[in-house]
Amino acid sequence: MRALVYDRYGQPDQLRLEDMPLPVPGAGEVLIEVMATSINLSDWESLTGKPAYARIGGLRAPRRRVLGSDIAGVIHAVGDGVEGFRVSDEVYADNLALKGGLAEYAIAPASAVALKPAGLSFAQASTIPQSGAIAVQAVARAGAGERMLINGAGGGTGAFAIQLAKAAGLQVTGVDTAEKLDFMRALGADEVIDYRAQDFTRTGPYDVIIDLVASRSVVAFRRALARGGRYFMVGGTTRTLLRLLTLGPLVGRLSGTRLGVLFVHEGPAQFTPLAQRVLAGDVAVHIDTVFPLEQAPEALALHGTGRARGKVVVAVREE
Ligand SMILES: NC(=O)c1ccc[n+]([C@@H]2O[C@H](COP(=O)([O-])OP(=O)(O)OC[C@H]3O[C@@H](n4cnc5c(N)ncnc54)[C@H](OP(=O)(O)O)[C@@H]3O)[C@@H](O)[C@H]2O)c1
Repeated sequence: MRALVYDRYGQPDQLRLEDMPLPVPGAGEVLIEVMATSINLSDWESLTGKPAYARIGGLRAPRRRVLGSDIAGVIHAVGDGVEGFRVSDEVYADNLALKGGLAEYAIAPASAVALKPAGLSFAQASTIPQSGAIAVQAVARAGAGERMLINGAGGGTGAFAIQLAKAAGLQVTGVDTAEKLDFMRALGADEVIDYRAQDFTRTGPYDVIIDLVASRSVVAFRRALARGGRYFMVGGTTRTLLRLLTLGPLVGRLSGTRLGVLFVHEGPAQFTPLAQRVLAGDVAVHIDTVFPLEQAPEALALHGTGRARGKVVVAVREE
């Protein structure tokens, strides 16, 4: 099978197509014939080896040679002990542990896989697992009527989160680059902020902040919160993560707020609810561009340089 591999942390030019033997699923695993894989920030972080936590399990060189965790495809083989899936089933999966979606076939634990609803294309289904799970869990932190700010709201997760937050009756402020302000408005954001022109920690206060690209000080985050407000880092720099884990609880206690990290639960139970919302027409999937496997390095570059509105998808096979 053809797979896009890399052996060193770096830029998309590290990626190359290689022929590899067809993997064989072990006990509890399935082999998926990949139709489409969406790109996540975690793919970019694993490619570049930055921030530092992206090197967990592979300090000097990547441990998994093939990127791509949000996979949609068709079951090609099942390992021993797998129940609930058969060959030819159409599925989608959050395969963050094994990755491998930028290839013609990928192994996934059956526990990471769900049956794909017939109403979703493979490309659409591939956009949902990681971003959907994050968006659903993040938006659930706020109640109707509250003011929610989403930092990094024009990307893959933010595009789902804005829509879910509006449907939940929240007042939503989206923060991203100037080029994505119209996109965020079209998704339903009440207010939008260009982070290069305005500092969101001085425009609040907000009841809940969801930070997909956290890079500020704990004091700045606290300043942005209303009394009783909650700040959740979802992604961002290692420095910010460490500051929040150490100083966040103390600053929160002293100021009547809560500042911490949202550790997202993965798996089908987390992402299938969003697929149901998409099927019901409550939430739309926004795909910026679909690339063939040969152009997957461009897909990573488009996502990694922050130009994509919503999701970027690699169509490994034509639907
Ligand atoms: N906590 C957990 O358990 C967990 C689990 C899985 C994933 N994650 C994390 O969750 C996050 C998901 O992000 P995603 O997939 O939605 O990423 P994405 O699609 O890349 O979106 C991020 C957006 O943020 C914008 N941005 C970059 N720097 C910014 C800044 N300083 N201020 C405001 N906006 C900025 C980007 O645009 P520009 O680059 O053009 O500025 C882009 O539009 C990732 O950080 C991932 O690592 C966390």
